[in-house]
Amino acid sequence: MGIYYNKQNNMFHLQANDTSYLIKILDNGELAHGYWGKKIKSTELKDYHELALNPYLLSQKEGHSFAMDVISKEYPSYGNSDFRQPAYQVKLENGSRISELKYLEHDIFKGKKNLKGLPATYVEDESEAESLEITLIDKVTKLKARLSYTVYEDLDAITRSVYFINEGNEAINLSRALSSSLDFKDSDFELLQLSGAWARERHIKTRPLVQGLQAIESKRGASSHSQNPFIALLRDNTTEYQGEVYGFSLVYSGSFLAQIEVNKYSQTRVSMGINSFDFNWLLQPQEDFQTPEVVMVYSDQGVNKMSQTYHKLYRTRLARGKFRDKVRPILINNWEATYFDFDEDKILEIAKSGKELGLELFVLDDGWFGKRDDDTSSLGDWFVDKNKLPNGLGKLGQQINNLGMEFGLWFEPEMVSPDSDLYRAHPDWCLHVPNRKRSTARDQLILDLSREDVCDYIIEKISAILESAPITYVKWDMNRNMSEIGSAKLPPERQQETAHRYMLGLYRILEELTTRFSDILFESCSGGGGRFDPGMLYYMPQTWTSDDTDAVERLQIQYGTSIVYPLSAIGAHVSAVPNHQVQRITSLDMRGHVAMFGNFGYELDLTKMTTEEKELVKEQVAEYKELRKLVQHGNFYRLLSPFEGNETAWSVVSADQQEAYIGYYKVLAEANVGCRTLKIKGLNPEFKYQLVGTEKTYDGDFLMHIGINIPDELLNGGDFRSIVWKLKATK
Ligand code: DGJ
Repeated sequence: MGIYYNKQNNMFHLQANDTSYLIKILDNGELAHGYWGKKIKSTELKDYHELALNPYLLSQKEGHSFAMDVISKEYPSYGNSDFRQPAYQVKLENGSRISELKYLEHDIFKGKKNLKGLPATYVEDESEAESLEITLIDKVTKLKARLSYTVYEDLDAITRSVYFINEGNEAINLSRALSSSLDFKDSDFELLQLSGAWARERHIKTRPLVQGLQAIESKRGASSHSQNPFIALLRDNTTEYQGEVYGFSLVYSGSFLAQIEVNKYSQTRVSMGINSFDFNWLLQPQEDFQTPEVVMVYSDQGVNKMSQTYHKLYRTRLARGKFRDKVRPILINNWEATYFDFDEDKILEIAKSGKELGLELFVLDDGWFGKRDDDTSSLGDWFVDKNKLPNGLGKLGQQINNLGMEFGLWFEPEMVSPDSDLYRAHPDWCLHVPNRKRSTARDQLILDLSREDVCDYIIEKISAILESAPITYVKWDMNRNMSEIGSAKLPPERQQETAHRYMLGLYRILEELTTRFSDILFESCSGGGGRFDPGMLYYMPQTWTSDDTDAVERLQIQYGTSIVYPLSAIGAHVSAVPNHQVQRITSLDMRGHVAMFGNFGYELDLTKMTTEEKELVKEQVAEYKELRKLVQHGNFYRLLSPFEGNETAWSVVSADQQEAYIGYYKVLAEANVGCRTLKIKGLNPEFKYQLVGTEKTYDGDFLMHIGINIPDELLNGGDFRSIVWKLKATK
């Protein structure tokens, strides 16, 4: 692996574990995209000069028949004879929108640099990765763009980002500044995206590519419930375990664009980055702009291998901090148990039952501050409500600690309720536009995090609370998207910077708080999974996956989420029945079996459970304690898709293949089912495995190729059935 430059034919070869990426500097100085896919062994690239060019064009000089339209580009500009979507666009003082970025210089070095002000994947040791920076310049304006690439040694992952700097004397408006663009020479792909809505996030959707534009995007100021900042292109006949897949994941939590354009020659351009809709960034002389990072993963062994690459990279080199490699506590959260209606006694009662059942962390959710008895007030007033908690948070935390549990707290720091002391004191601190209404959602407005003073205020207020009580966990919520986007602090020509400046402000707050309170485990949340993205994962190693806690619905949500995100990022709780979101009644067993494939917890009133139910909870908690290292750090395999049928199955296998944990779920009963087996992936065919809890042993290859029998009571036994198996190698 490594990055190679061939001077004779001006080509770069980026070689990761099993993938190659080729870039060529054309004679006219532009960058052509050569290839991305299965590894090419030769690093010399002697005979590869024809790549990137239509062969017949090779013989042409730039002139009357030199059409940029067929050339595969690496970071295309607007205004020339390439009529496809550009990667960036400028507006100059004289009204021109034309620019030409041409090669200036490059640098190849070990390791990886941080991105200015933005989350990104990283290395712990320089030997883990190699990076390439290619600097391009527009000679007329002296706008420079530095394209950054990193290849990881052990992974088929390549990261890309762009840094702009205006080295000229006139102002330049960047009206589009995407993070990456590349062209495939054909369009024989299916597009896979993770789409949905509140309470049904990240459902897998696919569609074939056709000539024209196809895109997913968010204009909401958050990555959103509707579309995750991720797409994959799948070759024909690609499945979970076979075929080529190209993944694109954006490390960003705001409005984004992932766009695919198929042109008249069936070539495919894939571009990704901050959404250029309602975006403009003014670069005065010497000012700069950093785009977020795109993480591109190649797999020639189906979608599952792509997911495992993302899982490994995001779990170990995107997530950070003390909790990255630690097993996570099993929590009890009071939200679905009490909503806003609680007092100190009620909280302590739930915490006490939690302790008796083996739970480790009590999380106090919304409603502990200001005068918040419903969702219409008090966001921004971060002082404890003495009516509910007369002894304050410090005392409550201590009492919970005395029970033998840790104490966690919910916040929604980015918001302000119009009915709050904060809003009455600072009505201009929210995102708004003069003389226009301020649309509320869930009765709240969004604080203007593009302002330094507002960010400083949040850091100070949240810090004060975190210092006032023995808090070891924070749930950081965010419950609405942006409307009337504008900032009282920015001049007119910078108003379209507001949404991205907000993200930079948010990232600064998170950097500051997670560094200052490095012993606290932070979990991100946005009305469930409205901001389940790599940007948030950089600061907070786990995310509340969805407000939908129904076990059946969760099969699709967690399955879809696992396409990109590791189980160590996926918050999954057992809640009460009838389920609060869909009214379905599923067994406590099944709810446990689904939630155990994530960061496990409970979200119900434990004090209302029967003795029998409590016994089962005790068993589940004890089982998860045994399993959690495997679940949180193992390799995940999807076995049966809830998007394709009535059954779902998945498993985790430890890196050394010594242990495996498998879940099988059947949603609706079917009549007269014969026998069925489930083939297990990822085991060692040479090992013998014991089915834990029985005397039975099976050979690894038997389990992988013949499979395990699904018990009859599951196949023929009614709706909402599930079973889990644990395998342990005996030699
Ligand atoms: C939305 C979250 O997803 C829920 O878990 C809960 O914390 C509520 N907000 C509280 O308002």
